[in-house]
Amino acid sequence: MQNWLPSPYRPGNGIDPPYLGDREEQIEAVRAFLKDAHNPRNVLITGLRGVGKTVLLNHLQGEAEGLGWLVIDREFSEPDVEPLAFANALLTDVNRALRRLSLSTRLKDRAANLLQAAIDVVGALTVSYGEFKVSVDTRRRRPGPHRRLDDDLKEAFTHIGELCRKSEYRGIVLRYDEFHVIREHPGSPTLSALLSATSAVQQHGLPLMLMLCGLPPVVDNLARSKSYSERMFTTLVLGNLRPPEDRAALVDPATRLGRRFADEVVDAVMIDSGGYPFFIQVYGDALWNGSHGETIQIADLRRLRPRILATLDAGFFRARYVRASPNERKLMRNIASFGESATIEQLQEASGRRNNEIQPTISALIAKGLVYRPERARIGFTAPMFGAFLQRTPD
Ligand SMILES: Nc1ncnc2c1ncn2[C@@H]1O[C@H](COP(=O)(O)OP(=O)(O)O)[C@@H](O)[C@H]1O
Ligand SMILES: [Mg+2]
Repeated sequence: MQNWLPSPYRPGNGIDPPYLGDREEQIEAVRAFLKDAHNPRNVLITGLRGVGKTVLLNHLQGEAEGLGWLVIDREFSEPDVEPLAFANALLTDVNRALRRLSLSTRLKDRAANLLQAAIDVVGALTVSYGEFKVSVDTRRRRPGPHRRLDDDLKEAFTHIGELCRKSEYRGIVLRYDEFHVIREHPGSPTLSALLSATSAVQQHGLPLMLMLCGLPPVVDNLARSKSYSERMFTTLVLGNLRPPEDRAALVDPATRLGRRFADEVVDAVMIDSGGYPFFIQVYGDALWNGSHGETIQIADLRRLRPRILATLDAGFFRARYVRASPNERKLMRNIASFGESATIEQLQEASGRRNNEIQPTISALIAKGLVYRPERARIGFTAPMFGAFLQRTPD
């Protein structure tokens, strides 16, 4: 029996897949932006959990760095939504950028004064936002008590942008993942400050670019904080992999290591996964590890599928299910009785409740990312095979 190399598949969170399927369009588009630093553009990546947002973001980061941009990256989390924490995060990032720039020999030679001036200004800003963790060598003190975050950011971004221009960097990219957690706080601007500062420095042609990434609510959060945000961003909406790239994502990594899948296996995995990138990795990994032949056969899939589903049930599906309240679970079960989606009319019949009674539950489920509206008056599960999971799982 031949010993195959370890599985090339990468089920997980933000882990680079062995074959990046169906993302060439998006990469092409952003590459064009990155080549034109005089006309800075912003990118917003959105889509449901597990469609490959972080993976794409990482690739774009690589493209940006390859083209000479200075990339500052961050993954936001719930505590960062507090205005002070948000301000701190951004000013910390400006400082990180400054530190990287201060290593630039070109800047040291040609603009040492400018660099020190920027360090003084930005350092003073950061200190003024309290409990700041990075030590900054600043000669200036807090610049007055009633500064606003948008003014401060604008000042900091302007310095960074100008320094980038004089350095060997083409510009700076702020690469922010999980950005859907950031919402505007009434009374203390956070998001709107970032957007207005960015827009102001971009209007002066300074090479600063935002690359934001998050679950679908990110779109609304941005729009609500600044009405012009939709004009500021090119939005890349990611979905499941489309044929033939869905098949390639499964087949290609195996081929490269000398194995193949019988066509029926590929067909069946495409049906189960719906082209959902995370599931393609899960199936590929289980099939690779659980079989021995050079060709992975349909008998292998039949044998392994119950175990794959049991693992998904206990982890992936269960984790989603427990996020729903008892009332929300009932509605999801109503949907599941019709398959992977149901019309509002069907749900009214199945639940015996009126439209205005079920709408709040639907809104709550949408906010939790468990269901979405694939078309008018229809509700579907955001995860493939979630309906089938509910049907095989008692309460
Ligand atoms: N374009 C792709 N082709 C194949 N697999 C992918 C692709 N994008 C992501 N994946 C895989 O899908 C899973 C989820 O990716 P991730 O970027 O974490 O999703 P998200 O950030 O949208 O939740 C990972 O296992 C990753 O390797
Ligand atoms: Mg992610």
